[in-house]
Amino acid sequence: MAPLASACCRLLLLLALLPCCSLAADEAALLLQIKTAWGDPPALAGWNITSATGRHRCMWPHVGCNPAGRIVSLRLSGAGLTGHFPDAVGDLSALTHLDVSNNTISGAFPTALYRCASLRYLDLSRNNLSGELPPDISRRLGPNLTKLFLSGNQFRGAIPGDLGSLTRLRNLVADQCNLGWLRWLRNAWNPWPRTFLT
Ligand SMILES: *[C@@H]1O[C@H](CO)[C@@H](O)[C@H](O)[C@H]1NC(C)=O
Ligand SMILES: *[C@@H]1O[C@H](CO)[C@@H](O)[C@H](O)[C@H]1NC(C)=O
Ligand SMILES: *[C@@H]1O[C@H](CO)[C@@H](O)[C@H](O)[C@H]1NC(C)=O
Ligand SMILES: *[C@@H]1O[C@H](CO)[C@@H](O)[C@H](O)[C@H]1NC(C)=O
Repeated sequence: MAPLASACCRLLLLLALLPCCSLAADEAALLLQIKTAWGDPPALAGWNITSATGRHRCMWPHVGCNPAGRIVSLRLSGAGLTGHFPDAVGDLSALTHLDVSNNTISGAFPTALYRCASLRYLDLSRNNLSGELPPDISRRLGPNLTKLFLSGNQFRGAIPGDLGSLTRLRNLVADQCNLGWLRWLRNAWNPWPRTFLT
Protein backbone atom coordinates (compact mmCIF):
# COMPACT_ATOMS: atom_id res chain seq x y z
CA MET A 1 0.00 0.00 0.00
CA ALA A 2 2.75 2.40 0.93
CA PRO A 3 4.28 2.83 -2.54
CA LEU A 4 0.83 3.19 -4.05
CA ALA A 5 -0.14 5.77 -1.47
CA SER A 6 3.02 7.71 -2.11
CA ALA A 7 2.49 7.52 -5.87
CA CYS A 8 -1.01 8.86 -5.31
CA CYS A 9 0.41 11.64 -3.17
CA ARG A 10 2.82 12.61 -5.89
CA LEU A 11 0.06 12.59 -8.46
CA LEU A 12 -2.15 14.74 -6.25
CA LEU A 13 0.71 17.13 -5.63
CA LEU A 14 1.35 17.36 -9.36
CA LEU A 15 -2.32 18.01 -10.05
CA ALA A 16 -2.38 20.68 -7.36
CA LEU A 17 0.63 22.43 -8.86
CA LEU A 18 -0.39 22.23 -12.51
CA PRO A 19 -3.05 24.92 -12.69
CA CYS A 20 -0.85 27.40 -10.86
CA CYS A 21 2.22 26.91 -13.02
CA SER A 22 0.61 26.68 -16.40
CA LEU A 23 -1.41 29.77 -15.56
CA ALA A 24 1.72 31.61 -14.45
CA ALA A 25 3.58 30.64 -17.61
CA ASP A 26 0.58 31.73 -19.65
CA GLU A 27 0.60 35.18 -18.09
CA ALA A 28 4.28 35.67 -18.93
CA ALA A 29 3.54 34.59 -22.50
CA LEU A 30 0.62 37.02 -22.58
CA LEU A 31 2.84 39.90 -21.50
CA LEU A 32 5.32 39.09 -24.26
CA GLN A 33 2.47 39.06 -26.76
CA ILE A 34 1.16 42.36 -25.39
CA LYS A 35 4.60 43.96 -25.57
CA THR A 36 4.92 43.00 -29.25
CA ALA A 37 1.45 44.34 -30.04
CA TRP A 38 2.35 47.65 -28.41
CA GLY A 39 5.37 48.08 -30.68
CA ASP A 40 8.08 46.57 -28.45
CA PRO A 41 8.99 49.90 -26.79
CA PRO A 42 12.36 50.26 -25.00
CA ALA A 43 10.54 50.77 -21.67
CA LEU A 44 9.49 47.11 -21.86
CA ALA A 45 12.92 45.64 -22.72
CA GLY A 46 12.85 43.99 -19.29
CA TRP A 47 9.92 41.85 -20.44
CA ASN A 48 11.86 39.16 -22.26
CA ILE A 49 11.91 35.43 -22.67
CA THR A 50 15.16 34.94 -20.75
CA SER A 51 13.52 36.24 -17.61
CA ALA A 52 10.06 34.77 -18.23
CA THR A 53 10.24 31.74 -15.95
CA GLY A 54 8.88 31.19 -12.47
CA ARG A 55 7.84 34.33 -10.65
CA HIS A 56 10.30 36.51 -12.56
CA ARG A 57 7.55 38.19 -14.52
CA CYS A 58 6.47 39.65 -11.17
CA MET A 59 9.85 41.44 -11.10
CA TRP A 60 9.40 42.79 -14.60
CA PRO A 61 9.25 46.59 -14.69
CA HIS A 62 5.73 48.09 -14.41
CA VAL A 63 4.18 44.72 -13.43
CA GLY A 64 2.57 43.94 -10.07
CA CYS A 65 1.47 40.50 -8.82
CA ASN A 66 -0.65 39.30 -5.95
CA PRO A 67 0.77 36.78 -3.43
CA ALA A 68 -0.46 33.93 -5.66
CA GLY A 69 1.74 35.23 -8.49
CA ARG A 70 -1.13 36.45 -10.67
CA ILE A 71 -0.63 39.74 -12.46
CA VAL A 72 -2.83 42.40 -10.84
CA SER A 73 -1.34 45.67 -12.07
CA LEU A 74 0.27 47.18 -15.13
CA ARG A 75 1.56 50.74 -14.74
CA LEU A 76 2.53 51.80 -18.23
CA SER A 77 2.05 55.55 -18.26
CA GLY A 78 4.36 57.20 -20.82
CA ALA A 79 5.92 53.85 -21.75
CA GLY A 80 5.88 54.62 -25.49
CA LEU A 81 3.04 52.20 -26.32
CA THR A 82 1.77 52.48 -29.90
CA GLY A 83 -0.70 50.63 -32.10
CA HIS A 84 -4.00 49.08 -31.13
CA PHE A 85 -4.97 47.81 -27.69
CA PRO A 86 -4.07 44.09 -27.64
CA ASP A 87 -6.91 41.67 -27.02
CA ALA A 88 -4.54 39.60 -24.84
CA VAL A 89 -4.83 42.16 -22.01
CA GLY A 90 -8.33 40.76 -21.50
CA ASP A 91 -6.80 37.39 -20.64
CA LEU A 92 -5.02 38.86 -17.58
CA SER A 93 -8.11 37.93 -15.63
CA ALA A 94 -6.84 38.99 -12.19
CA LEU A 95 -5.98 42.53 -13.32
CA THR A 96 -7.25 45.25 -10.95
CA HIS A 97 -5.13 48.29 -11.91
CA LEU A 98 -4.34 49.32 -15.47
CA ASP A 99 -2.65 52.61 -16.32
CA VAL A 100 -1.74 53.12 -19.98
CA SER A 101 -2.08 56.91 -19.93
CA ASN A 102 0.14 59.21 -22.00
CA ASN A 103 0.89 56.86 -24.87
CA THR A 104 -0.29 56.80 -28.51
CA ILE A 105 -2.62 53.79 -28.44
CA SER A 106 -5.19 54.05 -31.22
CA GLY A 107 -8.40 52.32 -32.23
CA ALA A 108 -11.73 51.99 -30.46
CA PHE A 109 -12.44 51.71 -26.74
CA PRO A 110 -10.80 48.37 -25.73
CA THR A 111 -13.71 46.04 -25.03
CA ALA A 112 -11.18 43.28 -24.28
CA LEU A 113 -11.20 44.85 -20.80
CA TYR A 114 -14.74 43.53 -20.26
CA ARG A 115 -13.05 40.20 -19.49
CA CYS A 116 -11.04 41.72 -16.61
CA ALA A 117 -13.83 41.34 -14.09
CA SER A 118 -11.75 42.51 -11.12
CA LEU A 119 -10.73 45.84 -12.63
CA ARG A 120 -10.88 48.72 -10.12
CA TYR A 121 -8.71 51.40 -11.72
CA LEU A 122 -8.57 52.12 -15.44
CA ASP A 123 -6.61 55.03 -16.91
CA LEU A 124 -6.76 55.32 -20.71
CA SER A 125 -6.24 59.09 -20.75
CA ARG A 126 -3.94 60.92 -23.20
CA ASN A 127 -3.93 58.37 -25.99
CA ASN A 128 -5.29 58.31 -29.54
CA LEU A 129 -8.42 56.26 -28.88
CA SER A 130 -11.41 57.20 -31.02
CA GLY A 131 -14.97 56.43 -31.99
CA GLU A 132 -18.01 56.24 -29.76
CA LEU A 133 -17.98 54.57 -26.38
CA PRO A 134 -19.81 51.24 -26.63
CA PRO A 135 -23.33 51.48 -25.17
CA ASP A 136 -22.79 48.47 -22.91
CA ILE A 137 -19.60 49.84 -21.33
CA SER A 138 -21.08 50.25 -17.87
CA ARG A 139 -22.69 46.83 -17.71
CA ARG A 140 -19.66 45.05 -19.05
CA LEU A 141 -16.74 46.71 -17.21
CA GLY A 142 -15.93 45.15 -13.83
CA PRO A 143 -18.50 45.90 -11.12
CA ASN A 144 -15.75 47.09 -8.77
CA LEU A 145 -14.43 49.80 -11.08
CA THR A 146 -14.02 52.98 -9.01
CA LYS A 147 -11.77 55.10 -11.24
CA LEU A 148 -12.12 55.57 -14.96
CA PHE A 149 -10.01 58.10 -16.86
CA LEU A 150 -10.81 58.75 -20.50
CA SER A 151 -9.63 62.32 -21.07
CA GLY A 152 -7.33 63.44 -23.86
CA ASN A 153 -8.55 60.98 -26.47
CA GLN A 154 -10.56 61.40 -29.69
CA PHE A 155 -13.78 59.84 -28.38
CA ARG A 156 -16.93 61.40 -29.77
CA GLY A 157 -20.66 61.09 -29.21
CA ALA A 158 -22.49 60.67 -25.95
CA ILE A 159 -21.48 59.01 -22.71
CA PRO A 160 -23.62 55.88 -22.46
CA GLY A 161 -26.56 56.79 -20.24
CA ASP A 162 -26.31 53.79 -17.96
CA LEU A 163 -22.80 54.49 -16.67
CA GLY A 164 -24.57 54.84 -13.32
CA SER A 165 -24.82 51.07 -13.10
CA LEU A 166 -21.12 51.09 -12.21
CA THR A 167 -22.27 51.59 -8.66
CA ARG A 168 -18.84 51.97 -7.14
CA LEU A 169 -17.58 54.45 -9.71
CA ARG A 170 -16.21 57.45 -7.83
CA ASN A 171 -14.09 59.27 -10.37
CA LEU A 172 -14.91 59.70 -14.00
CA VAL A 173 -12.63 62.05 -15.84
CA ALA A 174 -13.49 62.70 -19.45
CA ASP A 175 -12.41 66.26 -20.20
CA GLN A 176 -10.62 67.38 -23.37
CA CYS A 177 -12.83 65.07 -25.37
CA ASN A 178 -15.90 67.03 -26.32
CA LEU A 179 -17.72 69.91 -24.63
CA GLY A 180 -21.10 68.26 -25.12
CA TRP A 181 -19.93 65.41 -23.01
CA LEU A 182 -18.77 67.59 -20.21
CA ARG A 183 -22.12 69.34 -19.93
CA TRP A 184 -23.90 66.01 -19.96
CA LEU A 185 -21.63 64.66 -17.29
CA ARG A 186 -22.04 67.62 -14.98
CA ASN A 187 -25.78 67.12 -15.06
CA ALA A 188 -25.59 63.38 -14.79
CA TRP A 189 -23.14 63.21 -11.97
CA ASN A 190 -24.40 65.99 -9.76
CA PRO A 191 -26.37 63.64 -7.53
CA TRP A 192 -23.18 61.73 -6.77
CA PRO A 193 -21.58 63.58 -3.85
CA ARG A 194 -18.19 61.90 -4.05
CA THR A 195 -17.78 62.20 -7.79
CA PHE A 196 -15.64 64.94 -9.22
CA LEU A 197 -14.94 66.08 -12.72
CA THR A 198 -11.83 67.95 -13.73
C1 LIG B 1 15.68 40.87 -19.92
O1 LIG B 1 15.00 41.29 -18.72
C2 LIG B 1 15.85 41.42 -17.59
C3 LIG B 1 15.01 41.81 -16.37
O2 LIG B 1 13.66 41.63 -16.52
C4 LIG B 1 16.91 42.47 -17.87
O3 LIG B 1 17.80 42.55 -16.77
C5 LIG B 1 17.69 42.13 -19.14
O4 LIG B 1 18.55 43.18 -19.46
C6 LIG B 1 16.70 41.92 -20.30
N1 LIG B 1 17.43 41.47 -21.49
C7 LIG B 1 17.38 42.16 -22.63
C8 LIG B 1 18.07 41.51 -23.79
O5 LIG B 1 16.79 43.22 -22.75
C1 LIG C 1 4.40 61.52 -21.11
O1 LIG C 1 5.35 60.54 -21.51
C2 LIG C 1 6.56 61.09 -21.97
C3 LIG C 1 7.45 59.95 -22.41
O2 LIG C 1 6.78 59.18 -23.39
C4 LIG C 1 7.24 61.89 -20.85
O3 LIG C 1 8.41 62.48 -21.33
C5 LIG C 1 6.28 62.95 -20.35
O4 LIG C 1 6.83 63.59 -19.23
C6 LIG C 1 4.96 62.32 -19.96
N1 LIG C 1 4.01 63.37 -19.59
C7 LIG C 1 3.30 63.32 -18.48
C8 LIG C 1 2.37 64.47 -18.23
O5 LIG C 1 3.35 62.38 -17.68
C1 LIG D 1 -15.36 43.15 -5.82
O1 LIG D 1 -14.88 43.54 -4.55
C2 LIG D 1 -15.32 42.69 -3.49
C3 LIG D 1 -14.87 43.32 -2.19
O2 LIG D 1 -13.49 43.59 -2.20
C4 LIG D 1 -14.75 41.30 -3.71
O3 LIG D 1 -15.17 40.43 -2.69
C5 LIG D 1 -15.24 40.77 -5.06
O4 LIG D 1 -14.64 39.51 -5.33
C6 LIG D 1 -14.87 41.74 -6.16
N1 LIG D 1 -15.47 41.31 -7.41
C7 LIG D 1 -14.73 41.00 -8.47
C8 LIG D 1 -15.48 40.56 -9.69
O5 LIG D 1 -13.50 41.06 -8.47
C1 LIG E 1 -4.35 58.26 -34.33
O1 LIG E 1 -5.48 57.55 -34.85
C2 LIG E 1 -5.78 57.84 -36.19
C3 LIG E 1 -7.00 57.05 -36.58
O2 LIG E 1 -8.04 57.30 -35.68
C4 LIG E 1 -4.60 57.48 -37.09
O3 LIG E 1 -4.88 57.86 -38.43
C5 LIG E 1 -3.34 58.19 -36.61
O4 LIG E 1 -2.23 57.73 -37.33
C6 LIG E 1 -3.10 57.89 -35.13
N1 LIG E 1 -1.96 58.64 -34.63
C7 LIG E 1 -0.99 58.07 -33.91
C8 LIG E 1 0.09 59.00 -33.46
O5 LIG E 1 -0.98 56.88 -33.63
